[in-house]
Amino acid sequence: MKILVTGANGQLGSELRELSSSRTSDQFTFVDIAEMDLASDQAMHDFFDGKQFDFVINCAAYTAVDKAEEDSALAYRINAGSVKTLAGICKKKAIRLIHISTDYVFDGEGNLPISEDAVPRPLSVYGKSKLEGERHVLDMLDNAYVIRTAWVYSTFGKNFVKTIAKLAKERESLNVVSDQVGSPTYARNLAAVVLSIVDKVHAKEVDIPGVYHFSDEGVISWYDFAWFIAQTTGARCRINAIPSEEYPTPAVRPRFSVLDKRKIKKNFGISPPYWYDSLKECLSKLDH
Ligand SMILES: NC(=O)c1ccc[n+]([C@@H]2O[C@H](COP(=O)([O-])OP(=O)(O)OC[C@H]3O[C@@H](n4cnc5c(N)ncnc54)[C@H](OP(=O)(O)O)[C@@H]3O)[C@@H](O)[C@H]2O)c1
Repeated sequence: MKILVTGANGQLGSELRELSSSRTSDQFTFVDIAEMDLASDQAMHDFFDGKQFDFVINCAAYTAVDKAEEDSALAYRINAGSVKTLAGICKKKAIRLIHISTDYVFDGEGNLPISEDAVPRPLSVYGKSKLEGERHVLDMLDNAYVIRTAWVYSTFGKNFVKTIAKLAKERESLNVVSDQVGSPTYARNLAAVVLSIVDKVHAKEVDIPGVYHFSDEGVISWYDFAWFIAQTTGARCRINAIPSEEYPTPAVRPRFSVLDKRKIKKNFGISPPYWYDSLKECLSKLDH
């Protein structure tokens, strides 16, 4: 298979790059902003000119959730405009698109795991722009996959796990919000899931396109997550639970972000790992 991965230097892209090294029969192409700037339609068309792929895995995104509130034009361009262009190219070239989206398309007002057909109501520019991107994919391609995920971390890039692991070593105490709950996702697990979908679709074993939810298993608050990060890294730092009101951010986050994963489990036979096992695996790879 010929597989193109965008956002190759990000968390998910980097995990896919690592996993790709053992897949010698597939030809992977990894691109980030230097190779194909998603801010430019021309750059996108130029990149694809004369090239063909079986799959595009779109991991690229404008992921700075708070910055997006001020920088909405660029957030919409990357998370929605470029996705429309990419979906158009995939349609023209008959390339299968796997697009990654987010739990932030929901308002988090419920208290039960959120299914794929729940009505989205994003609270932030990031969430709104990602929702628009999803809609372009689903409107333009009837064979694409949109995988919504949540609370992504890995050994690569910047993320909550790395930030808390570092701060817990340096500080005596940390305040972390305890009224936003969700399910962390180790990007390595998501990368494996994406490749397992690619394999099953390519082998014509399973091919049921549409929206899917994936995260690791289990439900915690950011406070719990921080507590376990500090505990597992042996930091002496005290983790204090605080309400969101005491940690104001430019972008409003959903309070309840737990995704219902039954569809991906049933259709693709996926068993998400428990979040704490994943956390331990990730931390063991970080120097702490
Ligand atoms: N991180 C999370 O907690 C989370 C949660 C739910 C869903 N998701 C979704 O999961 C997917 C992967 O997220 P991630 O955490 O791997 O994101 P990430 O680490 O921020 O990686 C995104 C990549 O996209 C690149 N990119 C940004 N602007 C670009 C442009 N103009 N042209 C080309 N590439 C550009 C970034 O490059 P630069 O670093 O140079 O900007 C970065 O390498 C995204 O769709 C995201 O929306 C993430």
